[in-house]
Amino acid sequence: MRDLFDRIIENKGPLGKWASQAEGYFVFPKLEGQISNRMKFNGKEVITWSINDYLGLANHPEVRKIDAEAAAEHGAAYPMGARMMSGHTDLHEQLQNELASFVKKEAAYLLNFGYQGIMSCIDALVTKDDIIVYDVDSHACIIDGVRLHMGKRFTYQHNDMDSLEKNLERATKMAEQTGGGILVISEGVFGMRGEQGRLKEIVELKKKFKFRLLVDDAHGFGTLGATGAGAGEEQGVQEGIDVYFATFAKSMASIGAFLAGDKEVIDYLKYNLRSQMFAKSLPMIFVKGALKRLEMLRSMPELKNKLWENVNALQNGLKERGFDIGTTQSCVTPVYLNGSIPEAMALVKDLRENYGIFCSIVVYPVIPKGLILLRMIPTATHTMEDIQETLEAFSAIRTRLENGTYKRLSQAVAMAMGE
Ligand SMILES: Cc1ncc(COP(=O)(O)O)c(C=O)c1O
Repeated sequence: MRDLFDRIIENKGPLGKWASQAEGYFVFPKLEGQISNRMKFNGKEVITWSINDYLGLANHPEVRKIDAEAAAEHGAAYPMGARMMSGHTDLHEQLQNELASFVKKEAAYLLNFGYQGIMSCIDALVTKDDIIVYDVDSHACIIDGVRLHMGKRFTYQHNDMDSLEKNLERATKMAEQTGGGILVISEGVFGMRGEQGRLKEIVELKKKFKFRLLVDDAHGFGTLGATGAGAGEEQGVQEGIDVYFATFAKSMASIGAFLAGDKEVIDYLKYNLRSQMFAKSLPMIFVKGALKRLEMLRSMPELKNKLWENVNALQNGLKERGFDIGTTQSCVTPVYLNGSIPEAMALVKDLRENYGIFCSIVVYPVIPKGLILLRMIPTATHTMEDIQETLEAFSAIRTRLENGTYKRLSQAVAMAMGE
């Protein structure tokens, strides 16, 4: 027998093994200054393309004012306790009502964190007799939620409706035996590649199969649809989504999240979401802050318009320059390049140090080996100048990637890693 910690000391995991080369720079970087299109990294100004502050609310003067006033009035704690016990207020209720009407659902329930909230939602919606069918590329919080499920689960190929149909056939047969039901889970927008979940086609399948649909719309809320109500609104099928989820961590530039759906479903979730029943209520700073942000989402369409002006300028500019941005249908802008992890590191360093461009880098195991994904999130605060500078920098780094500059630069890194 060995000590439990022997393994974790020997093997830090697929990402952890890069810690000594990557930490503080490629992972856990420290961006400083006010949240905006330009911030400081390692003491230098960079254009920030890695912050999910889609509508530019994080540092909007009206938002900052409300956040400060709420902190002054309530401190960071109020209300104390879980919602059920002592952490409930009129404003929590008001926010739920306003969120529900914004996403065109009967009722909504607040969550402290999206991640735990959606896990508990999946856990609460199914029993061991029920079957879950979910997109294979789902966010970690969905995968972890499914892990809690004691019954059968099937994945369908990413956004592949034939695969979904096949799995629904299997699930239906199984549910007929167990006497259970079926929960289908998709994202509204897949946050790495930017594709929208094919919600319209999934909802259409309800005519053929009996299932309920849960949609995680973290990246769609506030950015898609005529009113910003998300991917369901964009595709004209908001009604067909049985349980709608969004987080405040992106367009709302805060912390917290919510679920929305029919009143009886939300009433049930309210009494059965373990991560909320046994955890402290969302503090008033975030509740008042969310009410203000939501009001701005409703009353300032210019924020979403500006966001999309920037998204279109960036995505069109990249395409015109021959970059592969995959099949994004949202603000999430991936740029796919071919190269090893050490090459990716050299490339990102060049981008940051010599061109002042800060974007996230995604490599294996999140995406296939040999691919580098530079993931960019345009926001309403970016300017055309930011976009132009970034496009020029990208053209320069692609040339260097293709002529082997980064391979040479990365050799030292590769040797150090014993590759
Ligand atoms: C698709 C998706 N779902 C859920 C979450 C988790 O939300 P939260 O940050 O509120 O825990 C995130 C990340 O924020 C996300 O990108």
